[in-house]
Amino acid sequence: MQQIDIIKAPVAEYVADFHSQFDEILATKSEWLQDAIERLNASTGKKVRPVLVALMAGMIRGGEPPKSSIDAAVLLELIHTATLIHDDVIDEASTRRGQPTLNVIYDNRVAVLMGDFVLSSALIGAISLGDLEVIQIISSIGRELTEGEIRQFESADRLRLSEENYYDIIRQKTAVLFASCARIAGIMTGASAPDKERLTQIGEYLGMAFQIRDDIFDYYSADVGKPTGNDLREGKITLPLLHALLETEDTPEGQHCLELLRERPITETAVAHLTRYAIEHGGISYAEARIADYLRRAKELLLSYPESVYRHSLISLADYIGSRTH
Ligand code: IPE
Ligand code: IPE
Ligand code: MG
Ligand code: MG
Repeated sequence: MQQIDIIKAPVAEYVADFHSQFDEILATKSEWLQDAIERLNASTGKKVRPVLVALMAGMIRGGEPPKSSIDAAVLLELIHTATLIHDDVIDEASTRRGQPTLNVIYDNRVAVLMGDFVLSSALIGAISLGDLEVIQIISSIGRELTEGEIRQFESADRLRLSEENYYDIIRQKTAVLFASCARIAGIMTGASAPDKERLTQIGEYLGMAFQIRDDIFDYYSADVGKPTGNDLREGKITLPLLHALLETEDTPEGQHCLELLRERPITETAVAHLTRYAIEHGGISYAEARIADYLRRAKELLLSYPESVYRHSLISLADYIGSRTH
């Protein structure tokens, strides 16, 4: 059994229900959409976010997560799915989860509409949950995610070198969704206000670590089910290169890298040079250290809850986020 399956074990039944509800909510009269949804289901992702919802709900309740937390997890995963469909259009990515993307199978126009269909299905799901706080959180996620993606473009365009700016962007485009999963798990289990805050904080830390790990993938050519090197091709500077550049800003080598990043299009030779530069100047180890920091903080907060199978799995989930290979 893989590490992620062991982590899911305490909520295995929940995950099965999750899958059938996910299919149900996406029922459609369109043949193309039906085909797209079948494809999405055939190459299902890691389901880190629904598992986070289930484990947190279980931890707070001290037993089986309530049915309402499955409903909530379905719509959070729908938002994630819609984001990926749109993100692959934006990033012109040809593969996702080891399969061709919808923008390749259909085209950008159809893929954007399909992403919208999935996103709207999530909003309908949120309304039927009938909890105003949940609806408020769900509606804010879309705004945060898109603002984060736009800010990422802006900073590539302006070649903004600030570590704070990088953390801010990944918080918006990734950690907000993890934080929302955690908070909604708290809401569904009637957690106290301080507990909801604490869960949200744990979710945010996990999300930050998750995205930094994902950004590191881009510097290597291992098969992660999606293209690597793409961030740099688009001039998107993530933590490893950012760190290397900040460390060497005043050197001729550092200045040369900045020149490469100002040119459009960024050539394959430039991508290779920048990748090597980031690695050779300690960018990866620095990013690894930041992942470890975020995960340590998440685990410290998790340890304030009583021992349970759910807490145990959440701690393993934190380890998995730090060490995952795809
Ligand atoms: C990819 O998310 C997008 C990021 C936030 C980096 P996942 O790595 O969770 O994607 P799936 O759902 O498992 O494919
Ligand atoms: C994924 O972002 C989408 C969001 C988090 C909004 P990325 O472009 O960084 O992730 P991958 O590498 O395509 O999964
Ligand atoms: Mg992107
Ligand atoms: Mg992408």
